[in-house]
Amino acid sequence: MLTGGPSPEQVHLQFGADAASQIAVSWAAQAAVARPRLRFSQVSGGPVGEVNAAERGYTDALTGETVYTYHAKIDSLEPDTCYGYEVLHDGAPPACGTFRTGPRGRSGRFRFTSVGDQSIPAPVGLGLGPNSPNAGFVVDAIDALDPLFNLANGDLCYGNSTDQPVATWRSYFANITRSASFRPWMPALGNHENETGNGPHGFLSYLTRFELPGNGAPEFAGNWYAFTVGSVLIVSLSNDDVCLQDAGFSSYRRDHVPGYDASGADPYIRGYSRGLQERWLTRVLSAASRSDEIDWIVVCMHQVAMSSAHFNGADLGIRQHWLPLFDAYGVDLVLAGHEHHFERTFPVRGTLGGELLTPAPRGSDRAEMDTSQGTVHLTIGGGGHPYNSPGRRLHGPGEGVVITGVADGDPHHQRRAVLVAEPAPWSAYADERPAFGFAAFDVVPAERGGTTSITVTYYSAAPGSADYMPHDTFVLRKRVRDEPAGQWTDDLCRPGAVRRTGR
Ligand SMILES: [Fe+2]
Ligand SMILES: [Fe+2]
Repeated sequence: MLTGGPSPEQVHLQFGADAASQIAVSWAAQAAVARPRLRFSQVSGGPVGEVNAAERGYTDALTGETVYTYHAKIDSLEPDTCYGYEVLHDGAPPACGTFRTGPRGRSGRFRFTSVGDQSIPAPVGLGLGPNSPNAGFVVDAIDALDPLFNLANGDLCYGNSTDQPVATWRSYFANITRSASFRPWMPALGNHENETGNGPHGFLSYLTRFELPGNGAPEFAGNWYAFTVGSVLIVSLSNDDVCLQDAGFSSYRRDHVPGYDASGADPYIRGYSRGLQERWLTRVLSAASRSDEIDWIVVCMHQVAMSSAHFNGADLGIRQHWLPLFDAYGVDLVLAGHEHHFERTFPVRGTLGGELLTPAPRGSDRAEMDTSQGTVHLTIGGGGHPYNSPGRRLHGPGEGVVITGVADGDPHHQRRAVLVAEPAPWSAYADERPAFGFAAFDVVPAERGGTTSITVTYYSAAPGSADYMPHDTFVLRKRVRDEPAGQWTDDLCRPGAVRRTGR
């Protein structure tokens, strides 16, 4: 074998649209490699498969560096099965990992986790981008819970805030690979993934590095997607498409990206899919709401529909575009970031009236919530960005903040957000401490008594501490539709034993 080739690095996993049978292994190398491929087999033994990897690259508009990434996709896997794999190039030692496929239907319980706004554990370049030790600690805290997968709710590494975006992404993946090479980390696009100059909407770096389920729109492959795990449908959205806030702007990129003026690039990308994402979302949610295979619909996105953080604020654009669809098709749970703290709502459906479209709470029980009554929203933005202590000076207690528009601006000047305060009867709990955190979700697809549940636990740690402890827990539970009387004799999950829950 030849030696001296670039080694595989930044190895990470993604599920395909069907987590029970499809996975993609992705990695990067410091230069183009020969014969990139993946070898895999069940951990328990059996035949060894091998698939070639596709190379995808881009040249960063700020630094001129070319990035090489590789993606190997496998399907026809067995459900709920552990596989081992080797990432291979000619001339380099392999990188190894394992993964477990998702359960089929309602055949088994599983756990997933979620975190947003992580950043990186140590400064890169001039140190302009956010970083904190907790961005590293949270990876081990998540991994210690052995989730089937993790949802990364946008603002992954803040690549648009730094003089060294390529090194920042490398730091991000180097940090998470000790978890993400053993379980998928499924991302959503955040405003800090918008690196003006890298692709038409700034997302080329993110899109090059991930291999995500298809959405039927080649022009926007990877921007939004959905996948199914057991009886849970996970939908990942690109909120900058509908948000009013001009949050993708970077003065550093404005001042330092060569050709920024001449390119005509504009970081304000609201409406960039021309309604394509909204039509896709309508189709996906409509199908899920009619499916006997889906009990839970979980949306992963970045900016929030409700917020009392007094940091960015909730975005009226989300209320206008997404919440009517979440109501119409019974979305159960929304996981977001953008606000660098933890907050959760009561189930909400409809509005309290008025131009702010303030969501109407349905229920007041903080410990157990029935999502057939409405959608529960979680903000989980304490992944590691060092600004984790939202200011509380601008508005009074019990108030939320809504972004209702932006002032005039242009590609050179960030459009200032117009903020309006609102009462926040939808807020069930907000962590006002300067803490970092993430959340874990334990899914029980079928319970004695004809219900299904997700138990949510929010773990948090003090700044500088690696000791993540449970801080808040609650249960989402709803009845299973058409449960035959007397069928349930235990709380074990049985394939095909239940039908879709009511919405
Ligand atoms: Fe953020
Ligand atoms: Fe953000």
